Amino acid sequence: MYIKGVGMTRFDYSQKHWWQFAYEAAIDALKDAKMGISQIDAIIFTGMSSAAGGEHQTHKVSFLSGLFKTNVPIIEVPSVCGGGGVALWTALHLKGFKNILVLSGEKLVDNKSEIVVDYILSAAERVMEQAEGMLFPVQNALVWQQYMNKYGGTMDDLALIAFKNHQHAALNPNAYFYKRPTDLEKIRNSPVVASPLRLMDCSLSVNGGAAAVVSSEKSDIEIIGSGFATDHILTFEREDITHFKATKLAAKMAYEQAGVGPKDINVAEIHDAFTSVELISYEDLGFAEEGKGGELIRSGKLNLGGGMPINTSGGLKAKGHPISATGLAQIFEIVNQLRGKCGERQVNNPQIGLTHNIGGAGGSVTVHIFKKI
Ligand code: COA
Repeated sequence: MYIKGVGMTRFDYSQKHWWQFAYEAAIDALKDAKMGISQIDAIIFTGMSSAAGGEHQTHKVSFLSGLFKTNVPIIEVPSVCGGGGVALWTALHLKGFKNILVLSGEKLVDNKSEIVVDYILSAAERVMEQAEGMLFPVQNALVWQQYMNKYGGTMDDLALIAFKNHQHAALNPNAYFYKRPTDLEKIRNSPVVASPLRLMDCSLSVNGGAAAVVSSEKSDIEIIGSGFATDHILTFEREDITHFKATKLAAKMAYEQAGVGPKDINVAEIHDAFTSVELISYEDLGFAEEGKGGELIRSGKLNLGGGMPINTSGGLKAKGHPISATGLAQIFEIVNQLRGKCGERQVNNPQIGLTHNIGGAGGSVTVHIFKKI
């Protein structure tokens, strides 16, 4: 299967409706594909929509039918922060459709921070873990504490990841922190959220939309590998909490299908919900050996101008994280990198790119590999 077009809105705190973000991103993707909505044979939507309550819509497929003036099958695929990747995976497994529009629009940041965070937390286990205070930053702090004990990871390595992603976002007009780079001192001194993770280790919750047109007809970008794996929602039930098993499994499937390995990847978007998740994912995706993720970030190879830049968009950290739109925005970045359309943040002639999208704290993971034809 191929990608014909991609689109996204700017990621910020704009107070449009969830469907406006989805619509704008879809129109952008259709224009990029040089297609009209009448050429779309099916639509796959993913999103949590709104934390405000009043706008929450549970019949989105019918809503979208009216919005796009179409009667084609529309499928909703909920998978929280991993929704974008799961929606693409679903499109690739849907038989009998030539052109599929995959899209998301999220307006979650429309309320007080504690209400938004609580709504996002419906993506984690409510009864046993959250009753004990296990919010997403806490879960990830505990995972990182275990990693530090086992391998000697440091907060300085995580600061380098935040710094890299903010540097990249400063060059991305769609990123929340566009033209607003930060420095290592500010990162290292940002407030502690869940020890040892600080504010600048967390992704930034924002609003936005992203979309892609997937087709069985040949285009300039082929999807050569697609992997999807799940894992227990209870973090403490997992065999090894220092790594994300679902990432390892999804990556193995995607590499095998694509017939390539980690060394063949020229550019990647990794799910940096927390800087610690990005570092651990270097190892789970095979870019570094177990326990060596810190060495990789210190090498400078992952910065723009390095051998294999990661999160050139600014990632969830500094472009922003509108939950289900995130996975599709990762695809937007990789497709544009492969097409040489990324302006100041363009990587030198990449041929193969990878996206890695996680739902929850490692509970559902997709890995996709794209090749320039
Ligand atoms: N990085 C940089 N700046 C951030 C930020 C981040 N991760 N999160 C918030 N900010 C900034 C905001 O832009 C805002 O700046 P402004 O005053 O200039 O507008 C300021 O900090 C306050 O924002 P607010 O949303 O009120 O922050 P908060 O202190 O209430 O909450 C977090 C911050 C990180 C604790 C909270 O957003 C959180 O828990 N996020 C995790 C979300 C999550 O779990 N996502 C899913 C991942 S799997």
